[in-house]
Amino acid sequence: MNIFADESLGLFHLQSKDTSYIIQLVEGYPAHVYWGARLRHDDSLAGALELRERASFSPTPVLTRPSLSLDALPQEYPQYGTSDFRRPAYQVQLADGTRISELKYAGYTITPGKPALEGLPAVYAENEAEAQTLELTLKDDYAGLTVRLLYTVFADHNAITRSVRFEHNGEAPLRLEQALSASVDFADSSYDTLHLSGAWARERHVQRRPLTPGAALSLESRRGSSSHQTNPFIALLRHGADEDQGDVYGFSLVYSGSFAATAEVEQFGQTRVSIGINPFDFSWLLEPGQSFQTPEAVLVYSGEGLGGMSRTYHRLYRTRLCRGVHRDQARPILVNNWEATYFDFDADKIATIAKAAGPLGIELFVLDDGWFGRRDKDNSSLGDWFEDRRKLPEGLADLADRVNKEGVQFGLWVEPEMVSPDSELYRKHPDWCLHAAGRRRTEGRNQLILDLSRPEVCDYLYETLSAVFFSAPIRYIKWDMNRNMTEIASAKASPERQKETAHRYMLGLYNLLERLTSRFPDILFESCSGGGGRFDPGILFYMPQTWTSDNTDAVERLAIQYGTSIVYPASSMGAHVSDVPNHQVDRITTLATRGDVAMSGNFGYELDLTKFTEAEKDLATRQIAQYKEIRTLVQQGDMYRLLSPFEGSGDTAWMFVSEDKTEAFVAYFRVLAIPNPPISRLTLKGLNPELDYVIETGAKGSNGHVHGGAEASAPADGVSSAPFQTAFDGTPLGGDRLMRIGLVVSDLRGDYASCTYRLRAVQR
Ligand code: DGJ
Repeated sequence: MNIFADESLGLFHLQSKDTSYIIQLVEGYPAHVYWGARLRHDDSLAGALELRERASFSPTPVLTRPSLSLDALPQEYPQYGTSDFRRPAYQVQLADGTRISELKYAGYTITPGKPALEGLPAVYAENEAEAQTLELTLKDDYAGLTVRLLYTVFADHNAITRSVRFEHNGEAPLRLEQALSASVDFADSSYDTLHLSGAWARERHVQRRPLTPGAALSLESRRGSSSHQTNPFIALLRHGADEDQGDVYGFSLVYSGSFAATAEVEQFGQTRVSIGINPFDFSWLLEPGQSFQTPEAVLVYSGEGLGGMSRTYHRLYRTRLCRGVHRDQARPILVNNWEATYFDFDADKIATIAKAAGPLGIELFVLDDGWFGRRDKDNSSLGDWFEDRRKLPEGLADLADRVNKEGVQFGLWVEPEMVSPDSELYRKHPDWCLHAAGRRRTEGRNQLILDLSRPEVCDYLYETLSAVFFSAPIRYIKWDMNRNMTEIASAKASPERQKETAHRYMLGLYNLLERLTSRFPDILFESCSGGGGRFDPGILFYMPQTWTSDNTDAVERLAIQYGTSIVYPASSMGAHVSDVPNHQVDRITTLATRGDVAMSGNFGYELDLTKFTEAEKDLATRQIAQYKEIRTLVQQGDMYRLLSPFEGSGDTAWMFVSEDKTEAFVAYFRVLAIPNPPISRLTLKGLNPELDYVIETGAKGSNGHVHGGAEASAPADGVSSAPFQTAFDGTPLGGDRLMRIGLVVSDLRGDYASCTYRLRAVQR
């Protein structure tokens, strides 16, 4: 890690672990020279940028350099209106209505560590030795605008974070019409784009396609939320780059609201990638003396394909974005009552589920929607955060005690950002929701959204939720959010500030979460938005895990969890075993396969445990014991994806390897049975080729299969009380062999079959 700055050469060379990022001043404009594998630093880098000095039909802003057009110059933070016709990174409107601005270099500072971003989530450094920050100051003297471009590099991560601060030092108000977080110009377009798209219950499917000239890829959320439909992430992959090799460039936005990410190929074949708050329906009034901070973009370069990029994001987000005591702690195995009971429960029913949970080894019970107000359906009571004594006659604290007596901790669901029109809160404060005066208030799931851009609404939630959290021994909170924004307007905002509402909402939400998570540091918060509708880095700063999807079908979950892992670590993904036929897609899969899929995240169950047969109880007990043995590996190890559900037959495989490479956990899933199948060889990754590994298979019960090399040592009925059984006669196999010849996975029977392996390094 190092930042070299030489003003006389106009050169800034940022080195982040094994990555270089180079900026060169050209006529006062910060130009982008290079981003990729680390380069040795020397002054010759100042001449590395070859300028295109002729660009027909592209005007030339520098009189002394008549051939230079901004339209061809690769730039760090491009502007509109002075000869660059590509997508600008920002746009301001001056008091006279004009939209021209001209930012020129005005200085720099380099500081150890990484400053926090006021009011916004961001990657952090724990000490000054971990990171270094370059602040490039740009000025438009006519407008009285100072813009600070912040770049942080890291000693241990191939990541560079970027954000921008606008400061208004002029005399008349300015309006920011657009303020993106990062823009990078690549010298050519021989890349594929990759992004994550989907829908409710089908989140984050991987999409890859080649760049073509024009606006090649435009991703947006206009939902006031990062959304199920697109994720605030875009990557460029060199043609031919794959999971394991080739250059990959990731852009991930630490923000939970409406965003835009684009890749645009221009006339000379250069590619501009930008990401930030969606300019659509956004503007921000800057009075003299005021400033605006953009969210942070996290840029990751990998020369080791997509897998290398993902592992950088995983480690950075797991250790330097997630915070709090739970960051490094084993996450509890839970049972949630949503798919078990929906709204139809009472304290006794909940107590019976908790009673069934304890003996299986489950550590936490989560009481989901329906415990408050008079909520028997989804059409009332959001906002009325007091227990429903019809269902819980002795109250929440008493129920939590009953659950605790079974040796199980207690967790609770809330949906604080919402209000039901049929609620005491709404009757008292009808103007507290987002709405446009005189217009219909469009409902989603029979609910409206509270206006978190208003401090008094946030204060109310802070006090009300604090009272709930204090009222019982609550160890976990599931924070849900079940609709997207419509009629985005605030009763309190002046007309010229209405377009600030969606972003002010996010700032209000972040502030509320900051206050609550600091006040209740021992509570583990899990975020949720109809499953994974707000699965983004911004939310992970406050809540270290997210309910990955409302779709709990094991087969669909392979795609969802695989896609999610492109950016997000397994420790951030809630994954539960649910009942069959599956409630979302009606598919029937074995309990064994459902367990194997869910074990690759934060494991839990979401079904009525009291209905388990003895055989199911037996299998679940072993699944839980198995997960406890591999939990640290999954939650804190390095993930290697082996087979993609988006390619070929849909078969999926992945593995987790401990940092010291002495342990690994492998999961393989065959989606559809085929007659006379070829022998599957799973070539493993990330092991130490010099080490030998003993291999054990995850034991299956009568509901699953014993498979792979396990037959040699498995009991005849295929049922063992041990969570793992020795495979391959216990012969240790070399890491080199496992990564070259592979692990033979044979004899999987039927559709939706799975097997898991645990590897442990041994001395031969
Ligand atoms: C949506 C969530 O994703 C579900 O898990 C559940 O909590 C429901 N909301 C409850 O209304």
